[in-house]
Amino acid sequence: IRTCIVIPAAGSGTRLGAGIPKAFAELAGTTLLEHCVRGAHASGVADHIVVAVPEAFLSAARDTLGTAAEVVAGGADRVASVRAALAAAQRSDPGIEAVLVHDAARCLTPPEVFTRVTDALGAGAQAVVPVLPVTDTIKRVETLRSPCAAAGDERVIGDIDREQLRRVQTPQGFAVEVLEEAHALQARDPITATDDAMLAERLGHEVRAVAGDERALKITHPLDMRIAELLLEDATA
Ligand code: CTP
Ligand code: MG
Repeated sequence: IRTCIVIPAAGSGTRLGAGIPKAFAELAGTTLLEHCVRGAHASGVADHIVVAVPEAFLSAARDTLGTAAEVVAGGADRVASVRAALAAAQRSDPGIEAVLVHDAARCLTPPEVFTRVTDALGAGAQAVVPVLPVTDTIKRVETLRSPCAAAGDERVIGDIDREQLRRVQTPQGFAVEVLEEAHALQARDPITATDDAMLAERLGHEVRAVAGDERALKITHPLDMRIAELLLEDATA
């Protein structure tokens, strides 16, 4: 299957607080974006890679990535960045059949995860997500409104069976027409969406789940950066 990897990397990284957009923060002297593009290439599942970066970082990204990836300007939210990169991918290669959408923030994703996702697409799945089990106990809460409650106090109102729950990672794989249709509907009638599979589910497409990997963690908070440093040491030891 002719496959392209689309990498949304245009976020600001507010929670990481590195003082620079997250994809341009450095992990062992190399930007998250470079780690991510390297990993995407090394997976061998696609020959075209498109990254969406903040407008002000277009030339910086082009300088460091060279011919490894096509670089476009992202948008105000993740969905807009994916849409911009998807449009560029289809302009560059109108023959694309499958698209993997992969967060720059999951820059240490091992090649096996890419392979599991593309294998499922090859076997006929229209949408595929890598998942992991939930290890914490999960409860539903509501804000406590009583005269003696402090701001932000909550109370537990129920439990959720974690056996049925999964943490969802990237790369998420789609038949190109499914991703296109999903984003077209999102453009006409937007919902709050933190991944692309949500947009495909909304159209009634079945989303296949394959095994994810703890090493594909999303670098979100400073602690995640510390964990990523340790993972990188392991990988190069
Ligand atoms: N992303 C993007 N364009 C945006 C917002 C997010 O391409 N306008 C990308 C990020 O660069 C990241 C992925 O979507 O690779 C997941 O988003 P997240 O982890 O939330 O990154 P940020 O939005 O940068 O972080 P924060 O929410 O802490 O600001
Ligand atoms: Mg964000």
